[in-house]
Amino acid sequence: MIHWRKKMSVDGGVIDQDHKHLIEIINQFEKFAERGLTREQGMEILFTLKFYAKTHFRREEGLQLWVNYPFYEGHKKEHQDLLKQLDELIKNVETDSDTPLGALAFRTSELLQHWLLDHVLHSDLKLSDYIEESRDLEDLKLIKS
Ligand SMILES: [Fe+2]
Ligand SMILES: [Fe+2]
Repeated sequence: MIHWRKKMSVDGGVIDQDHKHLIEIINQFEKFAERGLTREQGMEILFTLKFYAKTHFRREEGLQLWVNYPFYEGHKKEHQDLLKQLDELIKNVETDSDTPLGALAFRTSELLQHWLLDHVLHSDLKLSDYIEESRDLEDLKLIKS
């Protein structure tokens, strides 16, 4: 189970809300995995995760453009890789009938936790300084005007 913590805060706003929601979906998958989920239930959660991750990545990339984030291209590529990894996980759950479903669900749940946390803690957090900086600039503009 993942818990969102203050040290994970990127913008104190919509990006944090997105991350919290993504964590919720991953925790939901883990809960189902522990209770013994059907393949269909697992797939449903993974598709929800994929849909929300896509929406979130788009939002985050938009924010990066807005604050002139210099590592935009590399970060966008990371998002694309994450979606590719998620597609592979979905394919595994869909087609791997050799591995018992419980074991497969457990492995998927572990991978999902890394999938999100590694990215948020190592890449998304770098964005927070740039957001801070552009907020300061906006404040300055307001003071001057
Ligand atoms: Fe990101
Ligand atoms: Fe993110």
